[in-house]
Amino acid sequence: MSISTPALVGGAALAALAVGATGFAIGGGWSHEGALEATRLTARFAFPWFVAAWSASALAALWPDGWRATLLRRRRAVGLGFAACHFVHLGFILTLALVFHHVLPKVTIYAGGFTYLLIAAMAATSNDAAVRALGRKGWKALHVTGGLMILLVFTNSYVSRLAAKPWLAIPALSLVGLAVTLKLAAWALRGRRLQAA
Ligand code: HEM
Repeated sequence: MSISTPALVGGAALAALAVGATGFAIGGGWSHEGALEATRLTARFAFPWFVAAWSASALAALWPDGWRATLLRRRRAVGLGFAACHFVHLGFILTLALVFHHVLPKVTIYAGGFTYLLIAAMAATSNDAAVRALGRKGWKALHVTGGLMILLVFTNSYVSRLAAKPWLAIPALSLVGLAVTLKLAAWALRGRRLQAA
């Protein structure tokens, strides 16, 4: 039995909301610290969804069949699941700023805000009609650029937490390193196959 895309995306959003509620509970309830914890935990929850969607094609190119083939087939749903979780992160950011008057650095607002526009554009074009309307090249350009920007923001966020939270940053950055290595290995394999053809 396969889970439908709306069920998977809705489930991801509900799970992210539950993670956020846990953040509030850990942070002492409806408070500034609670909202901060909810913001942190929802970003952590969204991260593996992004890595899974971004690595799906490389994994399937390197090791076809099995769960890698399933992941590639459901990549669109997984990517939309990431977008849903990350919009829950945005909801907690807005709560933090508008309800608890947390001051956000300008650079975070601009870089993060631009990345959210890309995530929204990627989510809105994750359907066959959009692929046809944008053309394969245009669609790919948007999704490759968006994917790299999201990767960059996650990498930057975790690099800046290396000193204060090595227990979080080291595993997260190792996962980024692994995902990039898989992408490069898949490109090299495709290149070799093209040359041999
Ligand atoms: C306008 C956009 C954004 C704002 C204002 C924002 C704000 C925040 C805030 C206030 C935190 C908590 C910081 C703390 O621990 O003190 C946070 C955490 C984080 N955000 Fe966002 N964010 C934005 C967009 C993004 C985007 C686009 C990504 C990734 C693509 C992202 C990834 C993260 C990560 C990885 C954390 C760290 C979580 C942790 O400590 O475990 N954020 N963000």
